[in-house]
Amino acid sequence: MAVDLTSRAVDARELMDDPHADQDMLERTYERFSLVNAVVSRWRSVYRRDIRPRAQQAPLRVLDVGAGGGDVSRAIAAWASKDALPITVTALDADPRAIQWARGRGSAVEYRCAYTGELADADERFDVVISNHLLHHLSGDELAGVLRDCARLVGDGGIVIHRDIERSRFAYRAFAAATWPFAATLLADSFIRVDGLTSIRRAYTADELASTAPSGWRVRRAFPARVELRWEASRAGS
Ligand SMILES: C[S@@+](CC[C@H](N)C(=O)[O-])C[C@H]1O[C@@H](n2cnc3c(N)ncnc32)[C@H](O)[C@@H]1O
Repeated sequence: MAVDLTSRAVDARELMDDPHADQDMLERTYERFSLVNAVVSRWRSVYRRDIRPRAQQAPLRVLDVGAGGGDVSRAIAAWASKDALPITVTALDADPRAIQWARGRGSAVEYRCAYTGELADADERFDVVISNHLLHHLSGDELAGVLRDCARLVGDGGIVIHRDIERSRFAYRAFAAATWPFAATLLADSFIRVDGLTSIRRAYTADELASTAPSGWRVRRAFPARVELRWEASRAGS
């Protein structure tokens, strides 16, 4: 039976979000995120386009919201170190299991377990706030809250870049086909394949994000099947 992708499957739950999820499967999932992100998420291009030029002007504080296993955070810290740029990266996740696992992967990044609202209420500030594969996790109300928090967290001069998968028949079929040969090997004993397909069913389209996000947020599409929701404080009023 064909999967219905005409609207967000907001009631579909990802297995990794179950508080009773098998710990070994969960940890294997965090570990494999780096593989998936290296293939589809393309943060190197965001680093070159949006992060590196800013760090060449002044020291930069980057916050990665919903960091999961923290691989995107660690990749940015490693690229910055290679470029000898003054970038500090904080990986934030509301799930203590993610932060505990990520902390064991090195100290180039600061790891924090909290919600964005807690940081915004404490008047914390960052120059760049990013997320990867976070938006599809959120309900409409949660999305509105996270966008409000992120705009507060970057204050007047910063930029927010949320990147996620865009729901489409192409994305669903491509992910299903690309992961099928590895289901019993590389991706075995992880939630990557099942949760990845659920994520695509839960994901926003670019048009949905454009009509949901408050004014000042801009939506872009990127390859492959990416959608980017951006807030640039200096342009938000224009
Ligand atoms: C699919 S994972 C993505 C992890 C990582 N960014 C990646 O791309 O591999 C989504 C993560 O967002 C976290 N999350 C969901 N809602 C959140 C919120 N409101 N604040 C902080 N983290 C949240 C979840 O705990 C989960 O670890």
